Amino acid sequence: MDCRSRIADRGLGSRREIFLFDDKEKMSEFMIGKWKEILREAIEKRGIFIVALSGGKTPVHFYRRLANMKEAFPWNKTHVFPVDERFVSFTAKESNFGMLKKTLLDKVPVPPENIHPIPAERSTPQISAMEYEEDLRIFFKLSKGQFPQFDLILLGIGEDGHTASLFPGSPLLNEQIRLAAPVILDKVRHPRVTLTLPAINHSRNVLFLVTGKNKAAVLKSIFDEGDDLLPASRVKPDGNLIFLIDQEAGSLLNIKTVFT
Ligand code: 6PG
Repeated sequence: MDCRSRIADRGLGSRREIFLFDDKEKMSEFMIGKWKEILREAIEKRGIFIVALSGGKTPVHFYRRLANMKEAFPWNKTHVFPVDERFVSFTAKESNFGMLKKTLLDKVPVPPENIHPIPAERSTPQISAMEYEEDLRIFFKLSKGQFPQFDLILLGIGEDGHTASLFPGSPLLNEQIRLAAPVILDKVRHPRVTLTLPAINHSRNVLFLVTGKNKAAVLKSIFDEGDDLLPASRVKPDGNLIFLIDQEAGSLLNIKTVFT
């Protein structure tokens, strides 16, 4: 395995694995392998592969690598949903869908009907979230009270411990019913729409990509200090929970005490 360390622990309810990498390149390489493995199993068992992808800067390297390997994957059997979106036009530089299109979706032969953007160009974030929820319910054929089971959800972490558009202290952290919700907070520049925790936690696999020195302190709070209030700590999926962390982001972690 091309990473420095692999640590597994089961202390959380979900099985949690942490992989540490020397650099971004090795991390993306490993992520491609995970993508392949999860995709293969999903297609063998269910005939399609359903992913939810995050915005932010961290996954861009991986999306570009994936786009360069376009022939290697059955894009016609792959369905892509965003994890969250800013309430801006798809052409705005802040749009997650815009970034996903530019780095990945425009470069691979994914049929347009397999792409399921959050309808951000609506009159209010509330309407946009309701429509996204409806799209999810129709696609996954969900009845009331059921949640989607994505094969893979790719997440990032903010310096304050947010993930998706779930921010510390937000009442949304207690959401039990909705699959998608609007996020309107003073500290957040654009209103957003996000998958909720129950929608994320029903996933078969959740993978966090975390890079850079500015994420070292928050990772320490999550792992060494066991801060369970942070949104990223509240991600405890039914399936596998995997963290891919680069050297800088993992630099403050006390591996021995935390991961054994
Ligand atoms: C977004 C995200 C968000 C992101 C983190 C980390 O749209 O911005 O979904 O949760 O993953 O803020 O962002 P970076 O990868 O840019 O550090």
